[in-house]
Amino acid sequence: MTQDELKDAVAAAAIAEVEPRLERDTILGIGTGSTANLFIDRLARLRHDFKGAVASSEASAERLRGHGIEVFELNHVGTVPFYIDGADEVNAYLHMIKGGGAALTREKILAACAERFICIADGSKRVERLGAFPLPVEVIPMARSYVARELVKLGADPVYRQGVVTDNGNQIIDCFEFMIDDPVAMEARLNAIVGVVTNGLFAARGADVLLLGTEKGVERLT
Ligand code: 5RP
Repeated sequence: MTQDELKDAVAAAAIAEVEPRLERDTILGIGTGSTANLFIDRLARLRHDFKGAVASSEASAERLRGHGIEVFELNHVGTVPFYIDGADEVNAYLHMIKGGGAALTREKILAACAERFICIADGSKRVERLGAFPLPVEVIPMARSYVARELVKLGADPVYRQGVVTDNGNQIIDCFEFMIDDPVAMEARLNAIVGVVTNGLFAARGADVLLLGTEKGVERLT
């Protein structure tokens, strides 16, 4: 199977996971990226079975609206029963690196507000140790150089993601050569750097369920 077919298989598995739990007043949290897009496309068929969605990016909001799914502001919603999103890397503890699509801050907010975080990923995303994928860090623009120097002190090779402005008006630094032994501790350590808005480690609040697309089928890990 191609990577896209594996992504579509986990999107279908996530639909099977949430469909029986949809109510007329359900508002879903929806992530960002190619796997989340496949989920959104499959969700369109169910648009009359639930109320709407909160999106982790303008791009996902636009795609949802394009399918006739109403998009709500999180401040008008509170908690969401499910947050469905992809990942750039995920380990055995369902800790993740996210933010390859620069949507990490809104993704982390939605993950925090979700009763259940369902991670959907093709098998290439499963790793023993997080960090081969460059860890994204969203920064306030005026703090970019300062934060980069602090990241060097922690052992990273920080690279400014040129030309990218997040939905929040901020910038992204990607941390290369930064293998992570203790994701929970490192997430907190990075959050403590002044000027950091969010880092792409989702460990303090990882996923509750991982639907992983493999050649043998979709594995469900909790
Ligand atoms: C966006 C993300 C995505 O979930 C992550 O990049 C995975 O993307 P894809 O599904 O395209 O592989 O964190 O900020």
